[in-house]
Amino acid sequence: MIFTTGGIKGGSGKTTFATNLAIYLSSKGRDVLFVDADDQGSAHAFSIQREATTNGNTGYTAIRQSDKEVRSEVLKLASKFDDIVIDTGGRDTTSQRAALSITDVYLVPFYPRSLDIWTLEKVESLISDMQVANPKLKAFSFINRADSQGGDNRDVAELLKESQIVTYLDTPLVQRKTFANAISYGLGIFEMKPKDKKATDEFTALYEALFSALKIKAY
Ligand SMILES: Nc1ncnc2c1ncn2[C@@H]1O[C@H](COP(=O)(O)OP(=O)(O)OP(=O)(O)O)[C@@H](O)[C@H]1O
Ligand SMILES: [Mg+2]
Repeated sequence: MIFTTGGIKGGSGKTTFATNLAIYLSSKGRDVLFVDADDQGSAHAFSIQREATTNGNTGYTAIRQSDKEVRSEVLKLASKFDDIVIDTGGRDTTSQRAALSITDVYLVPFYPRSLDIWTLEKVESLISDMQVANPKLKAFSFINRADSQGGDNRDVAELLKESQIVTYLDTPLVQRKTFANAISYGLGIFEMKPKDKKATDEFTALYEALFSALKIKAY
């Protein structure tokens, strides 16, 4: 399956989620291609750090692509892998559109703040455009970096739930230090010692909610 993280906002947690998804899928025995399709190169930098931390046993194959080549290169390699995770930047770019033209599952994290939720309409319009070219494209939103308390999560969840175009997964990832720490070591949150059980439970709940919404058994 081809998963793409994206959206129209910076800093929502696209790369953080993409790295954890690639590592999690690989830990389930899936052969994973991890594509950095953001010119900022954060996923690529993560993979370099991971190479060093794991002595080369990253568990996935990493490549970098941009613009239209995101589509052509991924299509070329697709049959060699069980799953492909593509991390895109937080703008409506040729790279993100190229990724969406071949994606099965589009994952859009939202930081629960007004400036972030105000991008929802643009995200919906991008999805609608891309579904013309790629009718199999399914889009999902979730809250990332959720506050551990307060009403902002609920307010944003209400708005996300209303969308007819992007399905809201009601399994937020709370703002937790382990996500940022894991990234800096080149690790996934499940590989951290000690493991932050709340964070890993939340990630598992999100992963299972996604597969349940897709009506396929989680790997
Ligand atoms: N659930 C979380 N808890 C704590 N920190 C988080 C969480 N998710 C992301 N972060 C932190 O938030 C920052 C932005 O995350 P990340 O780089 O993954 O976002 P992004 O959407 O990929 O950004 P960009 O648009 O620049 O590509 C990083 O410092 C990351 O460590
Ligand atoms: Mg990023």
